[in-house]
Amino acid sequence: MDTLTTSNTAATADIYRPALHYAARNTWLNDPNGLIFHNGLYHLYYQNNPLGNVWGNMSWGHATSTDLLTWTEHAVAIACDENEDIFSGSIVHDRHNTSGFSAGSDGPLVAVYTSAFKPGSLHEGVQAQSLAYSLDGGYTWTKHGGNPVLNRGSAEFRDPKVLRYDGGAGSYWVMVAVEATDFQVVLYKSDDLKNWELLSTFGPANATGGVWECPDLFPLPVDGDPENLKWVLTVNLNPGGPNRGSAGQYFIGDFDGTTFIPDSTVTEGFQDPDRLGEYQWLDWGRDYYAAVSFSDAPDNRRLMIAWMNNWEYANHIPTTPWRSPMSLAREISLQTRDGNVCLVQQPAGDWTALADRDTYRLAETTINDGVQVLKSAEGTVQRIDVSFTPGSAEEFGLILRGDGVTGTRVGIRSSEGTLFVDRRKSGQTDFHDSFPSIDTAPLQAASGSYDLTIFVDRCSVEVFAQYGRVTMTELIFPAETSTSLSVYATGGAATITSLQVTQLS
Ligand code: FRU
Repeated sequence: MDTLTTSNTAATADIYRPALHYAARNTWLNDPNGLIFHNGLYHLYYQNNPLGNVWGNMSWGHATSTDLLTWTEHAVAIACDENEDIFSGSIVHDRHNTSGFSAGSDGPLVAVYTSAFKPGSLHEGVQAQSLAYSLDGGYTWTKHGGNPVLNRGSAEFRDPKVLRYDGGAGSYWVMVAVEATDFQVVLYKSDDLKNWELLSTFGPANATGGVWECPDLFPLPVDGDPENLKWVLTVNLNPGGPNRGSAGQYFIGDFDGTTFIPDSTVTEGFQDPDRLGEYQWLDWGRDYYAAVSFSDAPDNRRLMIAWMNNWEYANHIPTTPWRSPMSLAREISLQTRDGNVCLVQQPAGDWTALADRDTYRLAETTINDGVQVLKSAEGTVQRIDVSFTPGSAEEFGLILRGDGVTGTRVGIRSSEGTLFVDRRKSGQTDFHDSFPSIDTAPLQAASGSYDLTIFVDRCSVEVFAQYGRVTMTELIFPAETSTSLSVYATGGAATITSLQVTQLS
């Protein structure tokens, strides 16, 4: 096993390397793949170009973590070859060796990935599903001789996520994948991971402004009640997100072992771009894509990681020698709020090692029209917990990674019911026309209060609003010297009921 420990400190030439997020040491990455907790480690595989820092040579890179915050990079797990690129997919622990790949007692890890067949190969132009297995806990992988195992002759059939279904209809493997340009999730079943039988299809529905990619399907208890399970189907789409480009939508419903039935969907007029605000989004920011969940996470937790980038400008972001970080891992739950079942997301890493850090606190403070720099709250890797009560201000919020004049605004316009991230003056923005943006999400006060938890990590801002009900994730590329944190209000006053800034670097 070849291990390259990723340095989590920013070298001067590498000021954007995150401290709390995974980024490859010196190569390109996109979608998280094959997320699994196995033998005490979180394994993160990912779409990787082992030879460069733009998309290409698609292979599965590999990193592991014990706390979901610090990662160790390993050798490439599954490499492309002259016949195929290794596109996105998932990994299951085949405990009972249904696949027959292991003679040992523990069963193999089986990766189910998309073979994107290259020109000149036997299946040229086709995307089909293939298997590889690992008998050493996920470090080295052998491709199955009978690949591909599921071929529909389609050029757009990809991103298999496999789960174990154990329910009223029996016990078997279920695969969700996409026919990307048909806006369809296709569901298959198998007893051995090699022979697959079509169960049903889902879609088109809700957002269809781009191809459907990287689906996931999982059950969750509502309010922690194991007797009240709902199923969540997530589908990433690109472009066509609520603030342009790549984004992830989800549906809450039921799965009977054959068909996913959403509680509600828009199936007529859903193509209308003005309806995007009606749909359910995993994240409203520009940089949360290809989100997918871990298999076998401890304590039945449902943990997700997304690629923190957007295909509109992904290959151009100004990081070097690496390109693209992953998001923080999030724990997904379903909670009843105001009588509705809602998807709620919380940062999931083990923060205990980062407790007792320098903390800046501010109690009940009125912000009058203008900007107030918070001296001694500056930083580049921070957790900010803030609660606002709106007053007469039209708009209020924070200015992060500022230089006293400009910065990234995370604001609220309570009369419009919106949260926004304005990165037009966030630092370097001119590497792509579509990067400088002001992006919005619907947000309502709860008991008169707006509560935000924000993670700032050198090149990113992740906002968890109203305790995870609404999230926004955005990349930013500020100057190294832009470290100030300010509060502001415009057109009147607003009140900060509490503010806490914890330094995490
Ligand atoms: C999503 C995606 C997947 C595909 C992979 C290729 O970002 O386009 O659909 O498997 O990236 O890298």
